[in-house]
Amino acid sequence: MAATRFELAGKRVFVAGHRGMVGSALVRRLVRENVALMTVPRSEVDLRDQAAVFAWFARAKPQVVFLAAAKVGGIVANNTLRAEFIYDNLAIATNVIHAAHVNGVEKLMFLGSSCIYPKLAAQPLREDAMLTGALEPTNEPYAIAKIAGIKMVEAYRSQYGADFINVMPTNLYGPGDNYHPEYSHVVAALIRRFHEAKRSDAAEVVVWGTGTPRREFLYVDDMADACLHLMKTFSAPELVNIGTGEDITIADFARVVAAAVGYRGRISFDPSRPDGTPRKLLDVSRLAALGWRATTPLEEGIRLAYQAFLRETGQG
Ligand SMILES: NC(=O)c1ccc[n+]([C@@H]2O[C@H](COP(=O)([O-])OP(=O)(O)OC[C@H]3O[C@@H](n4cnc5c(N)ncnc54)[C@H](OP(=O)(O)O)[C@@H]3O)[C@@H](O)[C@H]2O)c1
Repeated sequence: MAATRFELAGKRVFVAGHRGMVGSALVRRLVRENVALMTVPRSEVDLRDQAAVFAWFARAKPQVVFLAAAKVGGIVANNTLRAEFIYDNLAIATNVIHAAHVNGVEKLMFLGSSCIYPKLAAQPLREDAMLTGALEPTNEPYAIAKIAGIKMVEAYRSQYGADFINVMPTNLYGPGDNYHPEYSHVVAALIRRFHEAKRSDAAEVVVWGTGTPRREFLYVDDMADACLHLMKTFSAPELVNIGTGEDITIADFARVVAAAVGYRGRISFDPSRPDGTPRKLLDVSRLAALGWRATTPLEEGIRLAYQAFLRETGQG
């Protein structure tokens, strides 16, 4: 895959979803670049509102777009708010991608997710596994909306020659995560649960599922760095996975989180709760060939994420 060079310096760069975990990491990373950063609060432009999005793009004229706005959540949110997950994510993708095209945006990055790959695809998940099998049913509406966004990027590249690209991050964690008791992802949920157990001297923490599924976790600031690297050097219709290339069982991962939090009680598992996909590890050989590797070790990342949790929940 040939390397290209896209100059970010001096450009008006719009981060859609700047208050989110990924968007705020992109903002932290972008302030180190010589760019004019652009953001807009949801109260001003709801990205599901086509007229508002089109009017904002026509006025603000961003030159570069990172599309990191989405309705995102863990297994419970994905499975129960199924209509919201498909509607919001389809609307955000169609509005922003089309507005970017109409207003001559020079480069756009669409953020997909590893859940666009079939539930039983061969591991590690290669980029060409998309649309080769059935999806994990619990997050199918979200995944279908993300696949539609990916296909829009491909179509706008092929019909209009737009320099739009797709990246597929693995599970992310770090500052700005969502710690909602029901709707959070596994990392934030475990940080919160172990923290509360430590505070209350609980003898046991019960982790959902069997503990045997394997997952990959990437520190969100590493992910933002990868996004900038790809924005500057990658231009092709193919997807690019962003991950560490290493996975860990949920049971071992729970022990890493417990150690970072300082929880010393027992950890047990509740197999009556859903496990989700048995294994989810991205093949990151394309990303490595493009010259990027993750640098934050898991233990260090979780330590930083716990500090951020304490700060963000006013306990630090
Ligand atoms: N978190 C992960 O593990 C992970 C993994 C793979 C891919 N991704 C992808 O990364 C992207 C960002 O995820 P995240 O974890 O950063 O999610 P997040 O923390 O929930 O942030 C989502 C952002 O999108 C904004 N947003 C949602 N709906 C909106 C709307 N209708 N109008 C305007 N803004 C809206 C939110 O605005 P408010 O602040 O106003 O709510 C928030 O800033 C998503 O595309 C997701 O698929 C995330």
